[in-house]
Amino acid sequence: MIEPVVDTYVNRAWIDQALRADVAEGLVSQPKELPPKWFYDDRGSELFDQITRLPDYYPTRREREILEREIDVIAERSGADTVVELGSGTSEKTRIVLNALAATGRLRRYVPFDNSEATLRNAAAELAEAYEGLAVHGVVGDFEHHLGHIPDGGCRLIMLLGGTIGNFPPAPRKDFLAAVANTMAPGDTFLLGFDLVKDLDRLIAAYDDPEGVTAAFNRNVLSVVNNRLDADFDLEQFEHEARFDLEEEWIEMWLRSRCDQQVTIGGLGMTVDFAHGERMRTEISAKFRPENIGPELAGVGLAMERLWTDARGDYALTMSRMVARR
Ligand code: AVJ
Repeated sequence: MIEPVVDTYVNRAWIDQALRADVAEGLVSQPKELPPKWFYDDRGSELFDQITRLPDYYPTRREREILEREIDVIAERSGADTVVELGSGTSEKTRIVLNALAATGRLRRYVPFDNSEATLRNAAAELAEAYEGLAVHGVVGDFEHHLGHIPDGGCRLIMLLGGTIGNFPPAPRKDFLAAVANTMAPGDTFLLGFDLVKDLDRLIAAYDDPEGVTAAFNRNVLSVVNNRLDADFDLEQFEHEARFDLEEEWIEMWLRSRCDQQVTIGGLGMTVDFAHGERMRTEISAKFRPENIGPELAGVGLAMERLWTDARGDYALTMSRMVARR
C-alpha cells in the first residue's frame, strides 16, 4: 500500500475565522442569511448522509444510476490516470469511478479535495488500502480559495458530484467554474452532476421530508454557530421551511423564527433580534435545464461532450473537456 499524502490549507483557526466573517455579515444582512457550507459538522454530515437515503431525496440515487450506467464510457473517453474529486466527503461514489479506471489499466492517482480534514483522512486511508498501487494525494481546502493547490501532472478527470454546484448562485457559479477550469490542463475532463428543474411537488418533497431529517439538518447550522461561536440559538424556536423560487429556479431553505427573540453570539460580542415570523435563508439549491449547461461550460473554456440523464429525467451528468488554451 502507498501511504496517502494529505496537504492541509484549512485548519481550525482558518475555519473559525471564515465562520466568524460569514456569521457577522449574514446576521446583519436583510434578510438574514447563513451560507450552507456551515451545515457540515459531524452531526450535520451524519444528517446529510441520512437525507441521501430518504425516499423523497432522489438526487443521490439518480446520480448513482447514471454513473453506474455510463462509467465505462466515462473511463474510456477520459483517458485519465488521475481522479480529482471536489467535495469528496465520504467518497461514496468514488469506488464506481476508481473501479472503472482501474479496469482500463491507467489508474495511478486519486486526489480527494474536501474542507473536512477528518473525513478526508478517513477516505484517503480507506482507498489507499483498497486499491493496491494507488497514490492518494488529498487536499484539505476550501472550494473558493484553494483550488490552485490541487497537484498537477497526469491526465486528470475532475469530478464535482452530488449537485453541489447548485449551492452557487449564477455569478459565483461562473467564477467557481472558471477557477476549476483554470486548474485544468488541455485534455483533462470534468464530470459534473446537477439536479434538473421538475415538478414542484417533487422538488419541495425532496427538501421537506415527513421524517423531519431535512428540518434537523437545517437547524443544525444553528448548533454549529452555538458550538463554534458561543451563541445561544434555541433550535426549538426556529421552524424549517423549503420553497422553490420559480424565477430563479432554485430551492431555498429558510429558518423561520417562532417568536420575537434575541440571540447572543458570544464569540462575536453581538446580539441579534429575530421578529416572530422572520426568516433567515440557509441554502439555495439551483435546479438546471439541460440546454443551459453546455453554454455555461463553454463560457469557461470547457467543451461539453456528453450529457446523460437518469431514466426519469430527474438528474443529469455531463462530461466536458478542457480545450487547448489559445
Ligand atoms: C449537497 C448541496 C447537493 O442541495 O440537495 C440536501 C444539500 N440540502 N437537502 C442539495 C441539501 C438539503 C444538497 N447538496
